[in-house]
Amino acid sequence: MYHETVLLTESIEYLGVTPGGIYVDATFGGGGHSKGILELMDGKGRLYAFDQDEDAKRNTEQQEFSADPSFSFIHSNFRHLKRQLRAEAVKPGRVNGILADLGVSSFQLDTAERGFSYRFDATLDMRMNKQDGPTAADVLNEKDAESLQRIFSEYGEVRNAKTLALATIRFREQKPFRTTGDLVDLCVKNISGDRMRYLSQVFQALRMEVNDELGALEDFLKDALEMLAPGGRLAVITFHSLEDRMVKNFLKTGNIQGEQQKDFYGNIERPFEVLTKKPLEPSETEISRNPRARSAKLRVGVKNG
Ligand SMILES: C[S@@+](CC[C@H](N)C(=O)[O-])C[C@H]1O[C@@H](n2cnc3c(N)ncnc32)[C@H](O)[C@@H]1O
Repeated sequence: MYHETVLLTESIEYLGVTPGGIYVDATFGGGGHSKGILELMDGKGRLYAFDQDEDAKRNTEQQEFSADPSFSFIHSNFRHLKRQLRAEAVKPGRVNGILADLGVSSFQLDTAERGFSYRFDATLDMRMNKQDGPTAADVLNEKDAESLQRIFSEYGEVRNAKTLALATIRFREQKPFRTTGDLVDLCVKNISGDRMRYLSQVFQALRMEVNDELGALEDFLKDALEMLAPGGRLAVITFHSLEDRMVKNFLKTGNIQGEQQKDFYGNIERPFEVLTKKPLEPSETEISRNPRARSAKLRVGVKNG
């Protein structure tokens, strides 16, 4: 299976899909959420599905999504949401619902040569879009110690981030990083705490840096607010505390810092009515079926008019 969809029923229900509307699945992946949305659209309206990964694009063809007249696939980073939708003649203020299910798919994690996983020895790549930007090996070979420390500590919450950053510099003075095996070797010599947890944290940190995941999320949230119609819904599933905080702040204030803004008359601006005061999390049953759902959090807002 390409990917086991997380919080499927809950997220689709919250999106409030009605036939005839315009919807966006910002992270197509294996198409689980897209399928659920299309079923409720009943052949009326349009679903624009984004994914920056070539493999996800191929997946639309294999699963015959492309034969559905209500479905359009956009092979792009979702940070360009507004520009891409405008190119499809969708104007700001017209979209009824936007869903994002962040991070990587199981297919990406389980495909050795993508370099996302410490379970296989492969080229240390980690780019979701193989045409775009530096690889994880480039990051380790080129960043200075301070930047590496920040990446390990902020994105991976690695406890000994400074030690690991300095060890990275020493490692690459001997030979450049090329494979996931090189990164595992580095980690193994510097592990603090549980081995698997440590490896996951370091690999996740690099993935987030390589794909500028927080930068893309910020751009996406701003575009989503502009593109939504009044009453339109934004639903975001996150897997990392920094992402969850960004989404929570944005739904509350319209900016990722969570700073209250006032309009000309001094009224506090509330871009969304928040439907999830606490984030929705997968049930125990879902987690036991799909352990990768463990850290998922869903937040949903309705755009105020
Ligand atoms: C967790 S999976 C989505 C799974 C999907 N909801 C399903 O049910 O199969 C995340 C997908 O989003 C894509 N993705 C992540 N960040 C992206 C971005 N900034 N722009 C476009 N696609 C992105 C990844 O390539 C991956 O295929």
